[in-house]
Amino acid sequence: MDDEKIFRPVYWDFEQDCLKILDQRKLPHKEIWLEIKTLSQIEHAIDTLAVRGAPLLGVAAAYGIYIGIRNFRGSSKSFYKKLEDTIARIAVIRPTAVNLFVTLRRIQETTRIIKSSTLDKVKNNILEIGHRILHEEEECSFAISRNGADILDTSVRVLTHCNTGTLAAGGVGTALGIIYEAHRRGYVEEVFVDETRPLLQGSRLTAWELERWNIPYKIITDSSAAFLMAKEMVDVVIVGADRIVRNGDTANKIGTYSLAISASKHRIPFIVAAPSSTFDLSLLDGEKIKIEYRAQDEVLNFGGKRIAPKNARAYTPAFDITPSKYISAIVTERGVIEKPDIHRIAAHISGGAYATDVAEL
Ligand code: MRU
Repeated sequence: MDDEKIFRPVYWDFEQDCLKILDQRKLPHKEIWLEIKTLSQIEHAIDTLAVRGAPLLGVAAAYGIYIGIRNFRGSSKSFYKKLEDTIARIAVIRPTAVNLFVTLRRIQETTRIIKSSTLDKVKNNILEIGHRILHEEEECSFAISRNGADILDTSVRVLTHCNTGTLAAGGVGTALGIIYEAHRRGYVEEVFVDETRPLLQGSRLTAWELERWNIPYKIITDSSAAFLMAKEMVDVVIVGADRIVRNGDTANKIGTYSLAISASKHRIPFIVAAPSSTFDLSLLDGEKIKIEYRAQDEVLNFGGKRIAPKNARAYTPAFDITPSKYISAIVTERGVIEKPDIHRIAAHISGGAYATDVAEL
């Protein structure tokens, strides 16, 4: 693994005592690091996708909560009220990626356990949770990349959607991590990158990452995918996930469902890659997953310029649900779930996703 190319797009800067975020709105043309010091700054960064991707949303949420409460001075009772208010503010920003909510629950559970400690220790523990989730996600990405590469043929043309790399998950990423690892092993002939309308995470971010890794790729418009499959130009589709529920139904960036149907029609394996922190075992099927809708301007405008007629309106789901019957395999840090269903997922995920967050007190 080419270690010097792996970096942290989100990290806590101890010297400046703030959160640093590589601003993904400006990539690929400018590499600008944001210094996040206030709760409203992290809310804005999450809302506008300066930081994004399910695993890193979980990381940003933990650091965001810490930023929201770290300067609080007052009684224990009002501190816990402030903490709950801060959690509530972060919880409403992006509803689909479950990682954000997993983080909020981890913080709530931990603070409940250590409630009798000093407020400084509780605050410190929340910061520690941020560091720990970042580290866990990085470790998961390496395991996912190896597990996924293990099930690929030794010469593949891959199609992927959105951005699932370092920028979205830390480490080497999930779906893109598999592509990195497969390339390192000499398996990858070519990668087709869906541009991923409307915010272009594919053509801006995935292309930027593939270029850093010298992996051959071509960008395609989202609507080209089925045509390429019909022309036998794609051997496997690999995508990430924002939430995988008990029966394997998977929420991911809008357009994933169309890819899965096309792949099934053309008998092409459709692989979902995600850490266990992206599973939501509280929901039986995809029907109940809350889908995020974005501002209409993201579709009606392009590059800051109005494209559609003045009075046009847009319908703007940011995610869709792929039924598990279209998914050939889900790759996690623990291994591979072939033909996922409720029983296989339960067996794979049993034991929970994380152990404990209570640091030495
Ligand atoms: O809206 P985004 O850019 O946060 O959407 C990201 C995706 O849909 C990714 O595929 C998903 O979060 C997995 S990232 C490893």
